[in-house]
Amino acid sequence: MQINDLIDRVEKLEGGSELARDLRKFVNKRRLGLVYEESKPEYVRLTSKPVVEGDLVNVLPPRGTMEDMSGDDEADDIWVVDTLEGGSAHLVSLEDEKTCNAAYEDLVAVARFDQTIYCGLSETGRVERGGDKPYHTVINGENYHALELMLFPYFQSVDCIYIDPPYNTGDKSWKYNNNYVAADDAYRHSKWLTFMEDRLRLAKKLLNPTNSVLIVTIDEKEYLRLGLLLEQLFPDATIQMVSSVINPSGVARGGQYARTDEYLFFVQLGTCRPSKLPLAKEWRTSKKTTTDEPTWRTVRRRGSHDTRVERPNSFFPIFIMKKTGKIVSCGQALDIQDDYRDVVSDDPEIEVVFPLKPDGTEGCWQIGAETISSLLDKGYVRCVSRNKWGWIPTYLASGEAKKVESGIYDIVGRGGANNEIQVASASDTEFVPGSQWRIPSHNAREYGSNLLANFIGKKRFSYPKSLYAVEDTLQFYLSDNPHALIVDFFAGSATTVHAVMRLNHRDNGRRRCIAVTNNEVSYEEATRFAKQGLRQGDEEWERFGIARYVAIPRVIAAITGIATDGNPVSGDYGIEDEDYQVVEGSIEDPETGKKLRGKYYRKAKMPAAYVTDPFPMADGFEENAVFYDLKYLEPSVITANLAFDEIAPLLWMRSGSVGPVITLGDTDPEEATFEVTDAYGVLFDYAWAPEFIEGCRARDVDHIFVVTDVDRQYRDLCAEFRGKDVKQLYKSYLRSFEIGQDR
Ligand SMILES: C[S@@+](CC[C@H](N)C(=O)[O-])C[C@H]1O[C@@H](n2cnc3c(N)ncnc32)[C@H](O)[C@@H]1O
Repeated sequence: MQINDLIDRVEKLEGGSELARDLRKFVNKRRLGLVYEESKPEYVRLTSKPVVEGDLVNVLPPRGTMEDMSGDDEADDIWVVDTLEGGSAHLVSLEDEKTCNAAYEDLVAVARFDQTIYCGLSETGRVERGGDKPYHTVINGENYHALELMLFPYFQSVDCIYIDPPYNTGDKSWKYNNNYVAADDAYRHSKWLTFMEDRLRLAKKLLNPTNSVLIVTIDEKEYLRLGLLLEQLFPDATIQMVSSVINPSGVARGGQYARTDEYLFFVQLGTCRPSKLPLAKEWRTSKKTTTDEPTWRTVRRRGSHDTRVERPNSFFPIFIMKKTGKIVSCGQALDIQDDYRDVVSDDPEIEVVFPLKPDGTEGCWQIGAETISSLLDKGYVRCVSRNKWGWIPTYLASGEAKKVESGIYDIVGRGGANNEIQVASASDTEFVPGSQWRIPSHNAREYGSNLLANFIGKKRFSYPKSLYAVEDTLQFYLSDNPHALIVDFFAGSATTVHAVMRLNHRDNGRRRCIAVTNNEVSYEEATRFAKQGLRQGDEEWERFGIARYVAIPRVIAAITGIATDGNPVSGDYGIEDEDYQVVEGSIEDPETGKKLRGKYYRKAKMPAAYVTDPFPMADGFEENAVFYDLKYLEPSVITANLAFDEIAPLLWMRSGSVGPVITLGDTDPEEATFEVTDAYGVLFDYAWAPEFIEGCRARDVDHIFVVTDVDRQYRDLCAEFRGKDVKQLYKSYLRSFEIGQDR
């Protein structure tokens, strides 16, 4: 019986209608599907923001003390800065009426996600080796806010999002609201789900709904909940989970199977599908089967009724070019008393083939001369290696021919002596692999941590993905899109940027990757730094954060080919296998002492064939990248129209991340007129509209931004630039970029 039937029965009871109404209300409020208690509001510390009156703040414990970080710390209380005077602040609790005073130096600003904030981007560096190629971008900051910012340049236009979020292991590797989420935290999963749902909702807005993919990696701690969450957030998508071996030696889990694999969820939107690719044998989950190639049957009949006497009409000569095996023609069936040896060709280049059995006795053909001729036209006949009776003609029987016609075999064209159909060879057959991957190059230790060490030295980051695992994963969706836009908002060491650059290297593509990561340090480092009297926000702490110490140096080293120690990066891309190598040399005969020249075999590490595009890491990449810090801005700056340069990178990103960024620099916003690059134009003062329009036309720019509070002026420009991307920016620029949850 269902709950609604029960309520109907309650309603019919005397005095039951009120109870039934309450029950209905209760039932309607219940969420179906993934049920969890949201852990809101989320907040994040803004360690780089100078604290001003009106800010929300935490009060830090004295220097030299490590925060408790289990959730019961006073440092978690949120205060509003009432007044600031001298070196101290008067604070009012956000929760109740409590007040207190605190030293200014102990305050750290916090952003609660339910409050309006203003963000911008400030460039911290760039590396340029890619000519006019678009720039990859690494943003150091909280990804929730970075995603909100990205809605302006990339709403519904991202081709692929690849993320490797915190796995919620319970071992001080992930913080929510500034506290490590412990394994025994009663809200452990709720916190993780709240965190993920908020970010995935934004990610969904970035993805192109007609053709894009979201890829999320995860392990056994959260894969069940993540699967449900994705189903709920993307009800129309095709979702599939792949299991991938990333640690073949396994991590021991007491009383359980050792963990060798993790999972990848693929959420395909619209028409998005994985492409068939020419993959190495490791990707095959079964040995080659007969379904890979059609079966060619001998034209000579085998089995019952296979003699000349039984089928005299099927005993005729086939004339075949000796050298090539090309069938020239078929002759008439011989009279039963005629000797086939009397049939000869005038042309010494042509041989006469009869259906003789291996023992030399007379057989018969399976099909007649007319059928042979029509099958030849279709490319369904070929001659294979000769035996002592000459060439052996073979053909595709009707069942196989049907399979060819219905596309079951991968036919790549026609060729050969009889212009027969050609099937892709096993090595270049393109296919979509199965849902279990066991690929040696996906080993996270070897091709994640060890590979990363080539670029930035050892022990800077513990859990990078294998570069080739990310590259392979992306290639199924990006190989035929050389202009793809890829986002990774849990970028860590920026493996995804590196993988995208490798994909570009393969086909000279112009794909670009936007990577976002915060600048956190590990728990062990945080403890050590705190003991040294440092605090998050101090330069000595921040420079060891993952964005600044790992992601950005990695991207620079990968592009330039120069490791952080100043030397060329050692090693080649690709994976090595132990194999025997032939060595030529001289060996001394131990008995005679004579030198013998010869070949011998030596076991050696050799590049394995199955990583596409191996080349020296020191070659670097012909790519460009730019690095930004996410900045939190004061509303006063915005109302004074002073924040253009902080949003300038967003206009540039919207215009394809190519060429220079239009900024105001020292120019007074009131004095600014207009500026145009090859990619976009910004009109600051409508009085200059005619010159601006001319400038944009001359350079044929596709993206036009107009700074005006007058809607009519914007509409006029839209009319001028029909079919182009024309966008209005209000004079208090950042109003267009207001961020706040659940507004
Ligand atoms: C599992 S790691 C990703 C590793 C990455 N795939 C690689 O190969 O290096 C997750 C990363 O997300 C970052 N992160 C976690 N929460 C974040 C947040 N709210 N905003 C930005 N980055 C965050 C962490 O710093 C961490 O480095």
